Amino acid sequence: MSKNFDVIVIGGGPGGYIAAIRAAQLGFNTACIDEWKNAAGGPAPGGTCTNVGCIPSKALLQSSENFENAGHQFAEHGIGLKELSIDVAKMLARKDHVVKQNNDGILYLFKKNKVSFFHGRGSFVKAASPEQGGGWEIAVGAESLVGKQVIVATGSNARALPGTPFDEVNVLSNDGALRIGAVPKKLGLIGSGVIGLEMGSVWRRLGAEVTVLEALPTFLGAVDEQIAKEAHKAFTKQGLKIELGVKVGEIKVGKKGPNARVSVAYTDAKGQAQVLDVDKLVVSIGRVPNTTGLNAEAVGLELDERGAIVVDAECRTNLPGVWAVGDVVRGPMLAHKAEEEGVAVAERIAGQHGHVDFNLVPWVIYTHPEIAWVGQTEQQLKAAGRAYKAGSFPFMANGRARALGDTGGMVKFLADAASDEILGVHIVGPMASELISEAVVAMSFRASSEDIARICHAHPSLSEATKEAALAVDKRTLNF
Ligand code: FAD
Ligand code: NAI
Repeated sequence: MSKNFDVIVIGGGPGGYIAAIRAAQLGFNTACIDEWKNAAGGPAPGGTCTNVGCIPSKALLQSSENFENAGHQFAEHGIGLKELSIDVAKMLARKDHVVKQNNDGILYLFKKNKVSFFHGRGSFVKAASPEQGGGWEIAVGAESLVGKQVIVATGSNARALPGTPFDEVNVLSNDGALRIGAVPKKLGLIGSGVIGLEMGSVWRRLGAEVTVLEALPTFLGAVDEQIAKEAHKAFTKQGLKIELGVKVGEIKVGKKGPNARVSVAYTDAKGQAQVLDVDKLVVSIGRVPNTTGLNAEAVGLELDERGAIVVDAECRTNLPGVWAVGDVVRGPMLAHKAEEEGVAVAERIAGQHGHVDFNLVPWVIYTHPEIAWVGQTEQQLKAAGRAYKAGSFPFMANGRARALGDTGGMVKFLADAASDEILGVHIVGPMASELISEAVVAMSFRASSEDIARICHAHPSLSEATKEAALAVDKRTLNF
């Protein structure tokens, strides 16, 4: 006997669990299926983001930043510490506790919103017959569910280097990188993207000698050039060794086991053959959409050449009543993008008009300094031939940043030359992750830089740097 639902969501990450909650809020009888297991084999909804992504990485970034501040910043505040030590096991246990709080929070939200949760792998069986109520038959273990509408939110997995599978002991994905049991003396990372920089920062702060090997000749190519340059300078000063323009060759793992060493043969930017010898290697070269176990082929669910589910601008797949959101479809692989798509799809099912504007999806890299941006970069505007004005303001001239002792970086505005509409905002510096929200709000309302410049910002606050950067567009900063 099948259980019938209006909406079945496959995947309980940020795309899926949020879609399920919104669908339930809209009055649909909703199920969410998620297969993630905690250490005890129990359910751990929240997907990559909660279990091995956003949340645990930010927990470790916080712990390691505290450690670094205690070691390097406290003294100038007159705070003396006799002995500084790090208990990695305790730090990891705290991180696991934060993850569990989030897992439990989602289970609570499911209960509160009357979403039926199924722990296991959801697979398409076939189109449901009219007698079954139409829609799709989905199997979860021995159970059979029927949903009039199905939302697929099965996420993504780390991409491995060809010929070098993750063993999570010596060659690590994001999963292993988040549970290294002791600070490695030498850590190597392949890929200086978001994970490379965040995970590299964690283990460098704790004392590892970190080398990042990046294939591209430019650092953070998607980031505004001026901001990327500033960030590169800061990371290099911190001791993060970033080699650009390399070609990674053979990777050898010495005798297997936790003490094995990993050697990475590569050609450097000058064409010289090099070998990087490390205790642990993290491979962070992007992620691949995950449709394992969905049985997509059997029901004819269309995938593209990257393995992503093909969807239209509104997240409709080629199958009637089947939608897909988040990392498993095109677009930025970000939790908040997945969430927004989840909400939009639930609302479309209800006949509403949910919409996600990718140009207004903010990006944040949670390093120190933090990097955050929304909208277009200066290089994108140049390439598009768009006439623009730029204005920036350094945190060095911001009173709150001085009080914090965190004066590196800047806020930068890009606005249309004629209308002054804000086209992009780029921040490198303290609390960039929080400051960027003002820019997202402003751009969502199609504000001009003049609008921000005329808004009263609290003093002293980092947000004054945002106002000053907006003033700088019209060459009238007050404090610089
Ligand atoms: P996922 O979170 O991957 O969830 C998919 C879920 O579906 C999983 O639980 C999976 O087990 C389940 N599933 C898959 N197939 C099936 C099936 N057939 N049946 C049942 N269940 C299934 N993004 C940010 O915005 N901010 C950050 O700070 C950030 N930090 C990150 C740090 C790291 C180290 C990593 C790896 C990623 C980070 N991301 C961050 C990206 C973010 O995690 C993803 O964009 C987000 O998790 C995508 O959400 P999703 O719901 O599409 O997929
Ligand atoms: P990424 O796409 O950010 O970076 C991958 C990097 O690896 C790129 O710079 C690429 O040029 C490089 N690369 C690719 N192949 C290579 C090779 N063979 N040798 C050397 N370098 C190579 O991917 P990453 O860091 O794995 O993260 C995956 C995704 O997860 C991110 O793109 C982002 O969507 C998400 N994420 C988001 C975070 C956030 O929002 N703060 C944090 C971490 C991840």
